[in-house]
Amino acid sequence: MSKKPKHVAIIMDGNGRWATKQGKERFAGHNRGAKTVSKIVEHAAKEKIEYLTLFAFSTENWNRPAEEVNILMKLLVSSLRKQFSRLTENNIKLSSIGNLDLLPSIVKEELSYVKNKTKNNTGMVLTLALNYGGKEEIIDAVKTISDKVKNSIILPEKVDESTIIAHLYTRNLPPVDLLIRTSGEERISNFLLWHIAYAELYFTKTLWPDFTKEDLNIALSEYCKRERRFGKTSEQLN
Ligand code: IPE
Ligand code: IPE
Ligand code: MG
Repeated sequence: MSKKPKHVAIIMDGNGRWATKQGKERFAGHNRGAKTVSKIVEHAAKEKIEYLTLFAFSTENWNRPAEEVNILMKLLVSSLRKQFSRLTENNIKLSSIGNLDLLPSIVKEELSYVKNKTKNNTGMVLTLALNYGGKEEIIDAVKTISDKVKNSIILPEKVDESTIIAHLYTRNLPPVDLLIRTSGEERISNFLLWHIAYAELYFTKTLWPDFTKEDLNIALSEYCKRERRFGKTSEQLN
């Protein structure tokens, strides 16, 4: 039996399908999805999850219609504005991963404002993956490491797992213990490729706007039933 997960990551999927099912426009699903985010963040903090990482916008999501991308960016700003006092009340520290350079400046400003306001909070670390791609993260790390090798700051023979980790966007995060994906899709979609190497995967058909605290509890208790062997045998663990 595993203990409670230290790091939970969620691919929040199914906003569009939720809206279509209701006969509404896709943005209605994103709006409802944003409400789910605030409920689940608070609940995760109450459950004493130390790290919660949410996939909010992928490097591939730029390929959506410009109007939808715009709506998602605006929603991000308004959610950050609405939520930041709740984050502080719950002692949550906001962080982000991904290449922020390409995000609209209003998003960058709001994000850095909330990060700054919550930087001394000592409870759960909430990380938003924004313009995040797992492959890009590794490419960026390889570029920086190559540069340091070229300038003799790193010796090539000394490159090991810790060198790679130290150059990832996720360098301050522990490995993911539990990865949840909603909406019935069973794929990774370029999320946290390195950090999920040994994560337990949990897929649910529930669409993100319908995902509740109880659904999170079910995922957490399913995780606790898993035996994480990390290559060993069951006998070795007992
Ligand atoms: C997840 O819901 C939100 C983002 C990717 C930003 P989707 O918008 O992907 O919803 P579906 O998959 O179309 O239902
Ligand atoms: C993954 O969901 C990205 C986020 C949840 C932000 P998508 O809905 O974009 O994933 P694919 O493209 O269907 O795999
Ligand atoms: Mg989707």
